[in-house]
Amino acid sequence: MSFKKQIITDKLPQHIAIIMDGNGRWAAKQGKDRVFGHQYGVGAVRNAAEAAAELGVKYLTLYAFSTENWNRPQIEVDALMHLFVETIEQEFETLKKNNIRLHAIGDLASLPAENYTKLMDTIKKTSEFDRMTLTLAMSYSSRWEIVDAVKKIVNEQGRQNNKIEITEKYFSQKLSTVGMPDPELLIRTSGESRLSNFLLWQLAYSELYFTQKLWPEFEKEDLYEAIVDYQKRERRFGLTSQQIKRKKKE
Ligand code: IPE
Ligand code: IPE
Ligand code: MG
Repeated sequence: MSFKKQIITDKLPQHIAIIMDGNGRWAAKQGKDRVFGHQYGVGAVRNAAEAAAELGVKYLTLYAFSTENWNRPQIEVDALMHLFVETIEQEFETLKKNNIRLHAIGDLASLPAENYTKLMDTIKKTSEFDRMTLTLAMSYSSRWEIVDAVKKIVNEQGRQNNKIEITEKYFSQKLSTVGMPDPELLIRTSGESRLSNFLLWQLAYSELYFTQKLWPEFEKEDLYEAIVDYQKRERRFGLTSQQIKRKKKE
């Protein structure tokens, strides 16, 4: 039976995050340079976004470029930035067709001006679309985000006479993911089992799913498989299995 048919629609994760990894290794397997892998990876982004939106997932967050990725060879960084601009423009039709709102998180001010402008332009043009929010993490790292949140808090508290109580809820509202539920499911392709500085706060209780598939090979059916695997898990949040079963019956 296809994985899609096995998905329990009323147990769908609201938010899925993906670390899209393995473009370079995929290209090397084809005897091509790394940039070819990134170009091919765009198709996998389109498939994942479409599949998630069709299912009824509300938020899909994709790790596209980390703050650490700036340290790659300049030629690869330039090619990636060029690819982002081109893709963001070209894929407007896909976003429109699927009623997907585009959003971005990360140190966006560090992007080349053209990237920043085109990104903001597409974000604006899709702001009324409401089937799913597709968030691109660009020049993003979780430690950058947490330090940025602390700066915002220090600033805000400095301006207040009565200090605001710092709670988990207050803190999470200073992160770039404000307003989004935490991802229930994190997927990473390419066989690496690490978070690479992605959403450290938000993934505190997420189910982690690692697949050997390289990102350009990741198809809709692979997303369905990950969701089916997620749905078979018991999320206990520190409780006992017995407590969870009792709760379900209530
Ligand atoms: C992920 O693929 C894309 C980005 C980090 C931009 P990689 O480029 O990391 O590919 P591998 O991991 O070297 O195969
Ligand atoms: C993580 O992949 C970043 C993105 C997918 C954008 P990397 O390939 O940069 O991560 P490491 O170096 O394997 O940890
Ligand atoms: Mg990689």
